[in-house]
Amino acid sequence: MSVKILGIESSCDETAASVSLDGRTILSNIVASQVEEHKKFGGVVPEIASRRHAENILEVVRAALDEAGCTLSDIDGIAVTYAPGLIGALLVGTSFAKGLAMAADKPLIPVHHIAGHIASNYIAHPDLEPPYLCLVASGGHSQITEVLSYTKFRVIGRTRDDAAGEAFDKCARVLGYPYPGGVHIDRAAKKGDPDKYKLPIPKVTGSEYDFSFSGLKTAVINLAHNAEQKGEALDSDSLAASFQKTASEMLVSKTVEAAKAFGYKTVAVAGGVSANSGVRELMLHECGKRGIKVYLPPLDLCGDNGAMIACQGYYDFLDGKRADESLNAIATLSLEDI
Ligand code: KG4
Ligand code: ZN
Repeated sequence: MSVKILGIESSCDETAASVSLDGRTILSNIVASQVEEHKKFGGVVPEIASRRHAENILEVVRAALDEAGCTLSDIDGIAVTYAPGLIGALLVGTSFAKGLAMAADKPLIPVHHIAGHIASNYIAHPDLEPPYLCLVASGGHSQITEVLSYTKFRVIGRTRDDAAGEAFDKCARVLGYPYPGGVHIDRAAKKGDPDKYKLPIPKVTGSEYDFSFSGLKTAVINLAHNAEQKGEALDSDSLAASFQKTASEMLVSKTVEAAKAFGYKTVAVAGGVSANSGVRELMLHECGKRGIKVYLPPLDLCGDNGAMIACQGYYDFLDGKRADESLNAIATLSLEDI
């Protein structure tokens, strides 16, 4: 039997919907980005995000069904991101999905956003199967997760302060780039000298697989401000390159250490920061040396999208996960608590 899942995502600033076929084949993938609007404010404005989701969601879902050549009657289940994320933004997606599921008499499948990011690799890599280790680095999250099965996860490292993407965005801002700045740092880094500025790698006490990005971010901000105050020219391409190199080393070294300690021979990377060329190259290089196989999502599936929710929704559907009209959105929820 072939299973078609409609996936709906609205946890941050992209209104997105997609139809998956048997989990790994994507029949449509529609993303309405609000980035241009939030750019003016240097970051996502939650109230604006919620309003735009409410305006766009019907058309985005309709377009996802049309592009897939489906009507609602062809759909076996409606998957929706219910946690974590901006609460007002999540509520638009969950309310819409609840109404649609009730009206069309279809199963409603609650999907965790991070599980969705992890699933983005299943779409591009048909051979990837749990168990494996996944580094998830996005604008809101940085964690090292054991993917025990398609629906069971154990988080073994997390950030103590800023998420990796947040650190990229804040450093980009001080270097004069618009939100979201990660991709601008990535481009600038290609022109700069990554060894020009020595930046600190913060020590994290306690869990050895936890991250801390705030010290690194503050060092970049201080360097930029000091140069400005003294009237010195800042080599911003080299500062971007030095930051990217240090952040990549932090993310990759902890993931590789965890893979060794937990005996994983397969590592995946997911989330917006998995688009970063420095992270991708270093992960391939370091894992390659140790015989660890690496899976990276295609660039168009690194950021938030509906396909990853439709894909994870398929595995949650097979696992019997269901929600009813009492489904609520949850702003903060660990992957281990689903
Ligand atoms: O996964 P995502 O789209 O949204 C969240 O769930 O947070 O991640 C967005 C984050 C932003 O911080 C953005 O700057 C970062 O991913 N990002 C990048 C790159 N492309 C996007 N960071 C570094 N290098 C990139 N090429
Ligand atoms: Zn995300």
